[in-house]
Amino acid sequence: MNPSRRQFLRGLVDMVGAATAAELGLLAWSSPAIGDEKTMRMAMPQLAAPKVPLVNPVTLARFVDPLPLPPLAKPVGQRAHPAYPGKQLPLYRMEMRAFKAQLHRDLPPTPLWGYGGSFPGPTLVAKRNEPLLIEWANALPDKHFLPIDHTIHGAERDKPEVRTVTHVHGARVPPSSDGYPEEWFVPGHTSVSHYPNAQDAATLWYHDHAMGITRLNIYAGLLGAYLIHDDAEQSLNLPSGDCDLPLILCDRLIAKDGQLYYPVSDDPDAPWVSECNGNAILCNGKLYPFLVVEPRRYRLRLVNAANTRFYEMSLSAGLSFTQIASDQGLLAAPVPRQRVTLYPAERADVVIDFSGMDGEQVQLRQQAEAIMEFRVRDRGRRDKGVMPTTLRTIERLAAASAERDRVLTLGEQDDAGGSAMMMMLGGKHWSAPITEDPRQNTTEIWSMVNLTGDAHPMHLHLVRFQVLERRPFDLFTWNESKTLKYTGPAIPPGPEEMGWKDTVRADPGMVTRIIARFEGEPGRYVWHCHLLEHEDNEMMRPFQLLPA
Ligand code: C2O
Ligand code: CU
Ligand code: CU
Repeated sequence: MNPSRRQFLRGLVDMVGAATAAELGLLAWSSPAIGDEKTMRMAMPQLAAPKVPLVNPVTLARFVDPLPLPPLAKPVGQRAHPAYPGKQLPLYRMEMRAFKAQLHRDLPPTPLWGYGGSFPGPTLVAKRNEPLLIEWANALPDKHFLPIDHTIHGAERDKPEVRTVTHVHGARVPPSSDGYPEEWFVPGHTSVSHYPNAQDAATLWYHDHAMGITRLNIYAGLLGAYLIHDDAEQSLNLPSGDCDLPLILCDRLIAKDGQLYYPVSDDPDAPWVSECNGNAILCNGKLYPFLVVEPRRYRLRLVNAANTRFYEMSLSAGLSFTQIASDQGLLAAPVPRQRVTLYPAERADVVIDFSGMDGEQVQLRQQAEAIMEFRVRDRGRRDKGVMPTTLRTIERLAAASAERDRVLTLGEQDDAGGSAMMMMLGGKHWSAPITEDPRQNTTEIWSMVNLTGDAHPMHLHLVRFQVLERRPFDLFTWNESKTLKYTGPAIPPGPEEMGWKDTVRADPGMVTRIIARFEGEPGRYVWHCHLLEHEDNEMMRPFQLLPA
């Protein structure tokens, strides 16, 4: 890390806190009334101002575009695979292409990158224990359209600008198909992965994972939904068919000429910024869309695909959500919720009941802002289902069954003994030798000690886990003697966090403890913070699953 970045980081953190700096910056850009020169300089001392003015979404007409539903991916043929002798597997082909799309009726078309030329990309629908193959094809241009930081590990000047490798987030797959960040390939190349789908029904999603530029590739549009169905879930009679839809949320900054704007620091040689919050909140790639619904129950699969922003969603008209699933599938029982909070990469499947609301409008809100509208119109179809009182059995993993409790810091001293830096796991860089090496079929607790001032959504590839607790600790004692001195009782997870997860919010000042059984094929995987700016800049580490 060069001195200017280090200074930049410290500057942000010292002055206003990283998130706040970015937020204030946005406010300043989007609303000239608050954004006089002085405010801007004070609020974001190291963020460069955009060259083209940005769209202030508040000025756009609301709910004039229908909610896009990503197309369903269709197999292009069949192919054998050495992992499944004597079998022909369905083969899908997902081509990454540059294209343009209008993010809102009144905006010029926006250049984007997307799987199958759409943003979000086509939805993959898989069935439990029915393996499939995907050929990921990079048909992108040779030049990136977003600002690469060549001082970041893995994105140096000798690397090609455009590199991609796709990971299916939440899928349990062999290491060669998991999308290891260094296994990227360039335009004109393809890579075939196989997906066993030997796991419970859940809302997964796929996205780019290329070393050092994941934040830019995902921001450009390289993401989509991957759904797994199973018989157990299907027998519950939950809303299905056209009443079961993915709702992928992410935010962007849009320049007045329609181009995506990705924020940069004021150092042209090190443009990386620690957070990227957009002011335009897109639902399936549209700004302020509407959806016509019938007066019945709908299942929405909410996915937070944002770089940095967390979403806190609620409904107008006195409606609330019933959450039925989290990252890795169904909860034990439905949980009524006024608000659903999702950190980047987290998912929540919710049921919304519009019965008896014919002719009315219901708005979906992100905090105080209405971001989407449901228009209820009766078309005479009746909803015969009822919400089951239980959804499935979830056995809690006993802490006592863990063979190991790894204490892992989020953001610590440089292990080379240098000055304090952020964005590191266990005090180690990505390239340091592997330290997390669970043995296959054993259970481990990972205690993540957050030494920073921000919450980090922590994600492990390969495994599903349960959240044990969060517990406040004394940072001073930790810094003095590397010992954990708790300052309060452990806080158990709420009912919405009692199911299987693959991403967990690690709050500042807390030790967040998770427990996982490390099943799967031995080999190399990764774990990381899912704030994409952090992940790209050293807040990611490999882990090795050792054979039993
Ligand atoms: Cu959503 Cu490492 O991934
Ligand atoms: Cu993942
Ligand atoms: Cu982070």
